[in-house]
Order: sequence, then structure tokens, then C-alpha cells
Amino acid sequence: MRPATLRAEGWGWLHAGRRDWAVRGLDLRIEPGERVLLLGPSGAGKSTLLKAFAGVLGDDEGDGTGRLLVDGHDARSTRGRVGLVLQAPDANIVLERVGDDVAFGCENLRVAPEEIPARVAEALAAVGLDVPQDRSTSALSGGQQQRLAIAGVLAMGAGAVLLDEPTANLDPRGVPEVRDAVLAATAGTTLVVVEHRVDVWREHVDRIVVLAPGAGVLADGPPDTVLREQGAALGAAGVWVPGLVPRGKRPPRRAGEPLLAAEALVVGRDGEAVASGIDATARVGGALVVLGRNGAGKSTFALTAAGLMPPVRGRLAALPALAGCLRPEPFRWRSRELLPRIGSVFQQPEHQFVAATVRQELAIGPRALGSGDRAVADRTAEMLDTLRLGALADANPFTLSGGEQRRLSVATALATAPRLLVVDEPTFGQDALTWAALVDLFAQLLDEGSSVLAVTHDERFADALGAERLVLA
Ligand SMILES: Nc1ncnc2c1ncn2[C@@H]1O[C@H](COP(=O)(O)OP(=O)(O)OP(=O)(O)O)[C@@H](O)[C@H]1O
Ligand SMILES: [Mg+2]
Repeated sequence: MRPATLRAEGWGWLHAGRRDWAVRGLDLRIEPGERVLLLGPSGAGKSTLLKAFAGVLGDDEGDGTGRLLVDGHDARSTRGRVGLVLQAPDANIVLERVGDDVAFGCENLRVAPEEIPARVAEALAAVGLDVPQDRSTSALSGGQQQRLAIAGVLAMGAGAVLLDEPTANLDPRGVPEVRDAVLAATAGTTLVVVEHRVDVWREHVDRIVVLAPGAGVLADGPPDTVLREQGAALGAAGVWVPGLVPRGKRPPRRAGEPLLAAEALVVGRDGEAVASGIDATARVGGALVVLGRNGAGKSTFALTAAGLMPPVRGRLAALPALAGCLRPEPFRWRSRELLPRIGSVFQQPEHQFVAATVRQELAIGPRALGSGDRAVADRTAEMLDTLRLGALADANPFTLSGGEQRRLSVATALATAPRLLVVDEPTFGQDALTWAALVDLFAQLLDEGSSVLAVTHDERFADALGAERLVLA
């Protein structure tokens, strides 16, 4: 497939209902076959730019200025030349079976039916997704889902492949695997990858481009040059610059009395074990971090610990410091008993936003606890400010960027200051500044005598909280 040229000339985009431009005054030229790592703080407009190049930003979704060109033609008129893999891991899957899902894009582009099976087989081989084509897409692990989505754009025969945070939710072992699959499968194609962590891609791309929020390009050039000459400026803007760690290691916290204890616990769905032999205790003032591969049962354990799923076997008991006069099994508590005791944020909490604005979303928890108007307003304002969501207070939660949505979901759980906070991938998709802000909020919660149980692949987060580690095999 002939690689595509991508060009922005004074391009800008103002999303409908927003005051601030997501991207403005952008001039950029990406040559055929070039491999670009696109960086920038959360909310800088990275996903907006990728969607615009892929021609999926509709005229009714906002106002554009300037020009955005694919091979010299308006990006909106060049469908199929640009393949986009979206930020949300599950947003890319449309069909039930692996083979059909990969073929979907081809069918949409009206590729001749007799040509499609060969394209699908080739694309699956290129990304190394070695499962039968009739395998259910919902049975795939996170890494397999990423490969599936990439296979879909390859099968379309795209001349440019755009990937929005393709490795963000993979376990550490899956990251280089998926990266190498991407590189092998897109050899000769124009490639643009958005990612917050620079380390994974820096040696494999020709160029780094850094977006400044609403202000075009902050830095552009060969990776080593950009990082050497502009590392400090990029760090200040929130880019994760290798070597510039926003916060050092903290000593393990001296945790206090136990709140929740698991003994020989077996967790799973519908009585079928996913992980077993779990022994762990969440304590006052302490953080417990749960690590392990994609598919190891970390989220299932977190759901169980949060009282949202019954244990399969073994023991999971809330101690009096958490349970008070309630019986010890969190699963048997009513939701109004659960709320002040255990707060939780799950893998796609974005699916659970219920209010019309960010501010209202944040107020729901404190209000349900019976706080007065004044206290609710204060707490909400504090969360907005600390998590850099202030400018978005009146925005609809569903229109936030990936990183902004994640911060909002964590903030809604933090807003009620529960005794135990159970969170799944709390730092997913954050830039270095918002990451540090989240760490501060968690540390504050611990200082106030709460406990945090976090499922994460983020070792730095565990270090920064001085967390105890539980590895699920
Ligand atoms: N559909 C939408 N409607 C209104 N505003 C939007 C929409 N999508 C994004 N925005 C806003 O545009 C700005 C840029 O968002 P975008 O998703 O492009 O950022 P990003 O750089 O990808 O951020 P992240 O790293 O958090 O994913 C943000 O302020 C965001 O809230
Ligand atoms: Mg994004």
C-alpha cells in the first residue's frame, strides 16, 4: 500500500459547546512512511487531531479552521486512506467474531468480497493474533483486543495508521509485544502513535511532535534531539520525559489497623475461579497495589474486594474498623451502607457517568452522603482545581478527553472520602502533571486514615504511595 502524506496548514478545531479551541494554528507535515510519536499533555488535542485526519470529526461536532490534507486532499474526503485505532480499548470492536470484526472496515469500503478473506488472514498474521477467526471478540485479553483493532486498519489497506495510546492498558510484558507487532505490520506505512510514555517508542520512531493545548506545535524533531534540547520545557508542560520523574520513591507507609482481609480467597465469575489463593490485607493509611498480567483476575479481585461481586470460595472479611456494626461480608451490604465505606472506580468508569456536567457529576457522592450545599460546593471546587478540571466544570462528562474522563471518575470516588477506595488503573492515560496531582490526592486520602486498594501496571504509582504489592499469577 502506498504510504500517505499528512498535512495540517493553520488547522484548528473548536468542539461544539466549548469556549477553548482543542487545537489551533497547527502547521505540520508528515512525509510518506514516516513514523511519528505524537505527545502532549492530557487535553492537548491529540485524539482530536487523529480523528480529524481519519475524517471522523463531523461538521456538526464543531468548527474547523485552516486545512487538513491527506495526500493533498481534504481529510474528510479520503476515507480508507487513513486507519485509526481509538483510545478506548473496547471502542474499536464492533462485531462478535474476530474474523468478521477485521473484515468490517473492508466491507465498509466496499472492497470486492472475494478479496476480503485473504486480506483478513494477512492482517491477523501481521499483528500476530493467533486465534481462530470464529473466536468471540469479547473473550480476548487487552493485548489481543489491541492487535485485533490494528489488524482491522491494516486489512483496509490504509496508507497511514494512527494509533491512540495503543499500549496504555497493557501489562508490562504486553507492551513491547504489541509495539513490535505494530512496527512489523506497518513497515512502509505512515505511522502516527499517540502515547504518554516516551520510553516505549523513542528508539523506534523517526520523529517526535509535541502538541501544546490549543497552540500548535511545542516541539518537533528527531527523538534524541527534542528530548535533549527541550526536555525541561516538555517536562514543565506535563510530558513524561525519560529521566525526569515527577516524584521520587516514598518509604513504605506504616499502615495501621486492618480494614479488609482476604484469606485463601478465590475470586471469579458465575462460580468459576479466575484467581485463587489470595491473601491480602488493606489497612488504615496504607496502599495495597495489585499487579499481574492481563487476564490474571486483578479486576475480578477488585470488584470482589469492593463488595460488588461475591467471592467464589475462601474468606473476604471487613473488620470492625470498616464494617462497624454490619456483618463482615461487603457483598451483603446495601448500596447505602457501601457508599461511605468503600468507594470504587472500575476499568471503564467512563460508561457510568450520569450527570449533565462535570460539576454535577462530582457533587453526586457528597450529596448522597447528606452533605449540605456549602460542603458539597467546597468539595467539588477542590476536586476540580486539584485535578485540572476547572475549565471543564460545565462540560458534559462524555465529551472529555480520555485522560480527563479518567481523572473525573477517580475524582467522583475520592469526593466522598470513603474509608477504603478500590480503584482499577487510576493513572491510565495521565500526563506527568495530572499524574502527580492524582498521587497527591491519594496520599492525602491515606494521611486522613483511609486505605487504597489499586489495580495497576504503574510501578511508579506504587512507589510513590509506598504501597504494599500483591502480584496475582
Ligand atoms: N466530543 C467533544 N466535545 C467537546 N469537547 C471535546 C470533545 N472531545 C474532546 N474535547 C475537548 O477537546 C480538548 C482536546 O481533547 P482531546 O481528546 O483531543 O485531548 P488529548 O490530547 O487526546 O487528551 P488525553 O491525553 O487526555 O487523551 C479537551 O479539552 C477535551 O475536553
Ligand atoms: Mg486522547
